[in-house]
Amino acid sequence: MEQLHLDLGEKAYDIIFEQDFARLPDCLVAIQAPQKLLLVTDSTVDGLYGRAVLKMLRQNGYDTAGFVFPAGEAQKQMQTVLDICEACIAHQMDRNSMIIALGGGVAGDMAGFAAAIYMRGIRYVQVPTTLLSQSDSSVGGKTAIDFADGKNILGAFHQPKLVYINVSTLKTLPNREFISGMGEVIKHGIIRDASFFAYLEQNHDAIAALEPKTLISMAKTNCGIKAEVVMQDEFENGLRSILNFGHTIGHAVESYKGYTLSHGECVGLGMLAASWIARGRGLLPNADFTRILAVLSMYGFPMKTALNDKNRVLDLMQKDKKKAEGKLKFILPASIGTVIQTRDVTTAEILGALEFISLGGTV
Ligand code: NAD
Ligand code: GLY
Repeated sequence: MEQLHLDLGEKAYDIIFEQDFARLPDCLVAIQAPQKLLLVTDSTVDGLYGRAVLKMLRQNGYDTAGFVFPAGEAQKQMQTVLDICEACIAHQMDRNSMIIALGGGVAGDMAGFAAAIYMRGIRYVQVPTTLLSQSDSSVGGKTAIDFADGKNILGAFHQPKLVYINVSTLKTLPNREFISGMGEVIKHGIIRDASFFAYLEQNHDAIAALEPKTLISMAKTNCGIKAEVVMQDEFENGLRSILNFGHTIGHAVESYKGYTLSHGECVGLGMLAASWIARGRGLLPNADFTRILAVLSMYGFPMKTALNDKNRVLDLMQKDKKKAEGKLKFILPASIGTVIQTRDVTTAEILGALEFISLGGTV
């Protein structure tokens, strides 16, 4: 068994890496899980894994109820969180009960938010099943829902008690979702770890073939990078912002494209754009810029998209919640493995970067 420990004092927890769900009951015993559990999952994951996990938990003596919501980001809203809380009440859950989030980032963000507010906060466990959730959203305790046309507007920091990653679930994941998750994995290499970036360059075939040992090795290093940042800055007062590399432009592109591109694909385009700005300033060496382009292309990311109305993308960036003191914060790579945070990126630089990732079409 591979595992990592995220040391946040009283909120510390382990991240477990496995090839199946077999050890989940033991891991629940290790965290002294209560008898009463609510398993929250979406309609796709329910058929693939949810019913089997529910059965396993019940066979192990846990009084477990299930809550299934229709798959998709559109469900990441207050009504679904209220429905989860109603399911907790119907299952007579108290402050000692626990929620288990099984699924992608949508299930994890919502179940985590429900756990943060039900009876002023109960414990929860993350069992992520997408690459994005296994590499980013299940670790670090950010929970949220979308609200008033904005992504992740309402939420809470609420750390899970355990993250249980079964990499074999990636076998059923559509390729586009896999690419989306690779965006966050590549991001972690660029911002913090040159040797991990080189590992991604060198192990593409084994990663793409979903070779379990390689996936576990990748997941462990990847989560270790994120954990190290979260341990230093749990509430994003400084360092944690570097995890937003690629997101400043990426979020605006995601919204501009009406969510027809995945989150990770847009983060990929955002990383390209930020790297272009960094190279243009003489901050990022050209050789590193070329490697960033090459690795994104290798993993199947779109390298361009039609952005006909660039001023609208600019407007959408201004609305982004990461705007502070009237100026957008950018994370720019200074090399593969290091980034800087800055608020002095000019409109001309942003427009140039948008041109760089633009097909010049009309969509
Ligand atoms: P998602 O949860 O919607 O999952 C994507 C799709 O994959 C869904 O249709 C789901 O049903 C399906 N799916 C899940 N696991 C599967 C499997 N093993 N096999 C087949 N299909 C499967 O989306 P996501 O990409 O996992 O996460 C995106 C969300 O995560 C966004 O809401 C984003 O805001 C959030 N996020 C949160 C954080 C954080 O720190 N909390 C970080 C990054 C992203
Ligand atoms: N996904 C960014 C963060 O967890 O801070």
